[in-house]
Amino acid sequence: MKIVCAYSGGLDTSVMVHWLKERYDAEIITYTGDLGQGDDLEAIRKKALRTGASRAVVDDLRERFIEEFIWPAVKGNARYEGTYPLHTALGRPLLAQRLCEVADEFGADAIAHGCTGKGNDQVRFEVAAQCLAPHLQILAPLREWDLTTRELEIEYALARNIEVPVTLEKPYSIDENIWGCAIECGEMEDLWNEPPEDAWRMTKDPRTVKLESREIVLGFEEGVPVSLDGRLLPSVLLLEELNELVGSYGIGRMDMVENRVVGLKSREVYEGPAAVVLLAAHEELERVVLDRATSTYKRKIANDFANLIYDGLWFGPLRHALQAFIDETQRHVTGEVRVRLSAGRAMITGRRSPFSLYDDGLATYSKGDTFDRAAAEGFLKLYGLPYATWGQVQRRIGEREV
Ligand code: ARG
Repeated sequence: MKIVCAYSGGLDTSVMVHWLKERYDAEIITYTGDLGQGDDLEAIRKKALRTGASRAVVDDLRERFIEEFIWPAVKGNARYEGTYPLHTALGRPLLAQRLCEVADEFGADAIAHGCTGKGNDQVRFEVAAQCLAPHLQILAPLREWDLTTRELEIEYALARNIEVPVTLEKPYSIDENIWGCAIECGEMEDLWNEPPEDAWRMTKDPRTVKLESREIVLGFEEGVPVSLDGRLLPSVLLLEELNELVGSYGIGRMDMVENRVVGLKSREVYEGPAAVVLLAAHEELERVVLDRATSTYKRKIANDFANLIYDGLWFGPLRHALQAFIDETQRHVTGEVRVRLSAGRAMITGRRSPFSLYDDGLATYSKGDTFDRAAAEGFLKLYGLPYATWGQVQRRIGEREV
């Protein structure tokens, strides 16, 4: 048997490589994708080989992640339950896709992931793999084995010469990539506790930011972020620069209780400096270029779109159908948005687009007003007609007295 195994270099997946090899008498190929989590990939590759993998595949997925997953989500203004920009939920389908591609390339029989049985990520990995490669078997050792605590895993690792990370890790579970960071566990499990300062990774403490306030200009083309302060930047650089800059103002922190797919509520603390300002700016540009009906309709489906990303249905038919609608709405979402950054706060201060539907003549209250006030009279007669009829009936039956 040949298994392609998702590998991060941490304790879980290192034990997993060994466990799978023994349990299935299998050849193990590890797969590690760089989504911008900031790990030393060469060190991870070498560690995978030392841990018993016959091959260790590592690749830089940052550009593909942004272009094929993050930008489509931005076009749809995807925030789960109104807040979470979905960085983890967007990353999993890509990792699953690469696992399947690598499995087919090497003629493997199965893929394996290190997700627990209590989380959303198992759903995203497995449904994505089912959509893309239903012929592959999916293994989830963490749901199966009896190494139910960290101590048992360490004991297992030490007995088999598997390297255990020496650094005393913070007591948090962290998932980071170029679109954001999620932090849970430790004292945050009590909903009343404020997240401790050492939990944050991408943002400075907004209470102690000393920077002068400044403005930035974000440029979009057909709904896709393309520039910062007038400089066209490749997608990876754009997000890296923006995360650094916006994060230095302590902007982009979120603390929420969310509903997981598997039924429970959990508390997650998120950071997404670039995500927060880009989503706000994109939404603002849409206000200027979309007609009212499209804008209202799009806002309604944004919630469904975010839910299905969260629920692991990225490669399913509904996401494709909604994406086609969303992409069509983005044809004129081109222009710039100005944002003022100050400690802990980003505020939109300007917007412009060659496709703006804002008409100065119609909008002004000063000289040059082109709005036809007289037309409002006829409009109100018809617009109010159902209510005039309703009001008459109310009076007749005595429900309302005026
Ligand atoms: N709750 C988020 C999601 O389901 C993030 C999951 C990973 N969180 C973590 N702290 N490791 O997408």
